[in-house]
Amino acid sequence: MKRTIITLAILLLCRLALAQGISVETAKFRVGDNPAWASPSFNDTSWDVLRLDTDWNAQGIDNDNAYGWYRLHVVIPSSLKGRDSDKILLALGTIDDADETFLNGVLVGKTDGYDSPRRYIVDRKLVRWDKENVIAVRVYNGDPPGGFYGKPAWITLVSGPYILTPPAPATPRYNGPAVFGVRPGSPVIFRLAFSGEKPMRYAVEGLPDGVVLDSEKGVLSGSVKEEGDYPLVLKARNAKGSASASFTLKVGSRIALTPPMGWNSWNCWGTSVSQKKVMESAMALVSSGLADYGYSYVNVDDAWEAAERNPDGTIGTNENFPDMKGLGDWLHGNGLKFGIYSSPGDRTCGGYLGSLGHEKEDAEVWNSWGVDYLKYDWCGYSKVYGASSDHSVAALLRPYIKMQQYLREQPRDIFYSLCQYGMGNVWEWGAFVDANSWRTTVDITDTWESVRSIGFEQQDGLHPYSGPGHWNDPDMLVVGKVGWSDNLRDSRLTPDEQYSHISLWALLAANMLIGCDLSRIDDFTLNLLCNNEVNAINQDVLGRQAHKDIEEDGIEIWSRELSDGGIAIGIFNLNEAPVPVYLGGAIGKIDLEADSVRDLWRQKDIPTDATYTVPSHGVLLVKMKTSK
Ligand code: GLA
Repeated sequence: MKRTIITLAILLLCRLALAQGISVETAKFRVGDNPAWASPSFNDTSWDVLRLDTDWNAQGIDNDNAYGWYRLHVVIPSSLKGRDSDKILLALGTIDDADETFLNGVLVGKTDGYDSPRRYIVDRKLVRWDKENVIAVRVYNGDPPGGFYGKPAWITLVSGPYILTPPAPATPRYNGPAVFGVRPGSPVIFRLAFSGEKPMRYAVEGLPDGVVLDSEKGVLSGSVKEEGDYPLVLKARNAKGSASASFTLKVGSRIALTPPMGWNSWNCWGTSVSQKKVMESAMALVSSGLADYGYSYVNVDDAWEAAERNPDGTIGTNENFPDMKGLGDWLHGNGLKFGIYSSPGDRTCGGYLGSLGHEKEDAEVWNSWGVDYLKYDWCGYSKVYGASSDHSVAALLRPYIKMQQYLREQPRDIFYSLCQYGMGNVWEWGAFVDANSWRTTVDITDTWESVRSIGFEQQDGLHPYSGPGHWNDPDMLVVGKVGWSDNLRDSRLTPDEQYSHISLWALLAANMLIGCDLSRIDDFTLNLLCNNEVNAINQDVLGRQAHKDIEEDGIEIWSRELSDGGIAIGIFNLNEAPVPVYLGGAIGKIDLEADSVRDLWRQKDIPTDATYTVPSHGVLLVKMKTSK
């Protein structure tokens, strides 16, 4: 009954939302190809008129293996202007095949593939406010059907970067996880994650024998022999005040009690990574304050490997990584952890040396460098698998079990990250090969289509498989400057899409590995990654991954239960238009007669009996608490 109420509310409000953009249903059309047709002043009065929701063949145009041009005439009102940093979205629906799109004569987008939705975000300066604008689209079509189809074009405002996270207080504040797991005798590497004015002095009550604190850096090191839960009080003091936090050091068989947080080189540098670039990002992890929010892994992805193995079969680095041990020592000295990458095949995805036949030597070399995390990427192993007639799940497990044995023989904890894109429902067996996380999908990229497919579609239903010690991994973050090469660009996700991305990854208890150049991180990205209340959802000790409660009219509601009895709820708007959502009655199975509902991005309590506008591709992330 309650669910019906909220469903109706969303439906009604969706219709209201249509006023916030412009829908274009028809366009002028001509078969042929002429660069002059891009110009806004070209006279197209003699052209045909075609609908944009139906392909050209269905409208009597026989034009295959050839070009055709659409010209959309649209007055864009200054009410859509927004702020200087805002942009305009041209959502052109689906086009078959390739297109080049011009706004008032300027090329603003180009897509070579076919059947994919075209979404071009353009500078406001190109718009002629309150006057006619011409969107000219040159379409090449191979086989029928051709041209625009699916739905009308849609033009709307996209927010520029806007910061929601309130500034952190100058006084110390603990932002890290409440637990840390380590095996008996393994090195403890843990940095106390307190934000606040520096310098800061740290203290810890209840430290077991064998563990020491660097009270200036706030770094715990050493090891504990005896299994057990050691309750500690973490403390920090600066010129402005002091703070303390309860914490449990759990010495036992399980590590990774909360999802890993840190950085990985791949989404940023791809194979152009070097030790210098990794160090720059590692240093920025500390200087930017990210380490004060619990980001602690610094993971080198592919492309560190030497061209050939050493005569004794061990693996070395290429010239871009002159001193792996030095890198590991620097990281550990700062309470950070060191990650590396390899493949169970003879070659990695980037074509570098893999571990096949050298698993033991490699695990030993990594231990000598102080490695704390291994991403083990299937890639080259497909040759071995393909050559065998055994394609059972056991065959998928085999290479991962092998490396797991050697990792466990090392005298340190090595987070074991499986990367085989979800084959054989890895989430069903990842924990049995002692993995701490497993990639559930193909590689992410910095587009909404990718985040939507990987995050919203492919994680649905995977929540039973995730928990403390073993996490579903929907791949690394695509915020900040990314590029998979030396050519970095700002993430192509809009700011609202980035809020959704981080909110969803927090709800999903996903690995939070930043994939951008940290030495050039901007304020927007930093605030996105350093919201302590949002990160607390990801790091919640109960470790319950969110499940999808509602999917209706482009609104998805995901929720997860938290260790303090609260519930975190993400209300995501997957539509192209903003949608007002009434937070009354109930959301899914969740009773909203709560004592408090808190907007986690803005960090303030909000009334339930009110309507909130969720931006296009954006989110309202709340935490509901009841004292009942
Ligand atoms: C695969 C992985 C990526 C990255 C590259 C490295 O594509 O999925 O995350 O590690 O290999 O070559």
